[in-house]
Amino acid sequence: MTSTPLTESELEAWGERLGRILDPPAFVCLRGPLGAGKSVLARAIARGAGVDAEMPSPTFNLVFRYAGAGGKRVVHLDLYRIDDVEEVWELGWEELGAPGEVVLVEWPERAEPLLPPDRYEIALSDAGGDRRAVSLRELGDVAALAEAAGVQGG
Ligand SMILES: Nc1ncnc2c1ncn2[C@@H]1O[C@H](COP(=O)(O)OP(=O)(O)O)[C@@H](O)[C@H]1O
Ligand SMILES: [Mg+2]
Repeated sequence: MTSTPLTESELEAWGERLGRILDPPAFVCLRGPLGAGKSVLARAIARGAGVDAEMPSPTFNLVFRYAGAGGKRVVHLDLYRIDDVEEVWELGWEELGAPGEVVLVEWPERAEPLLPPDRYEIALSDAGGDRRAVSLRELGDVAALAEAAGVQGG
């Protein structure tokens, strides 16, 4: 579904809610152009999952791992700098989605053929006036997030 365009604080509130109800293991793709708000949303989802740490942008390191609430772990990846899909193996790609893990991937396009079939797809786009249109799709066998999707309004 696609939402009414959200302000930054609305997007953060939605992401935090999503992070609270996401039941790991969960794999979440965050799509949208540079500056769309993928990192803003990833940090909000992580906060919702109980991460209580500074979350730098992973642009240079590509992968950050955080401890969340109740044994949850959050892995935040930014694949922007991946030139060849095979490079993701060096990032520990094979182990992603272990029990308890919430995996948040910016620029999943870089690893398109290796994305798991069961995943969430979130797309962000500029809707003008500092608002972002947000869409959420569930692919394969994942829990429905209707409750969180409802927060998007519409
Ligand atoms: N409605 C909005 N939602 C998310 N970010 C917004 C919004 N309006 C303005 N911004 C700004 O856009 C930028 C998004 O940056 P970032 O999350 O790093 O983008 P990306 O990771 O997609 O490249 C931030 O500077 C943020 O303050
Ligand atoms: Mg980013």
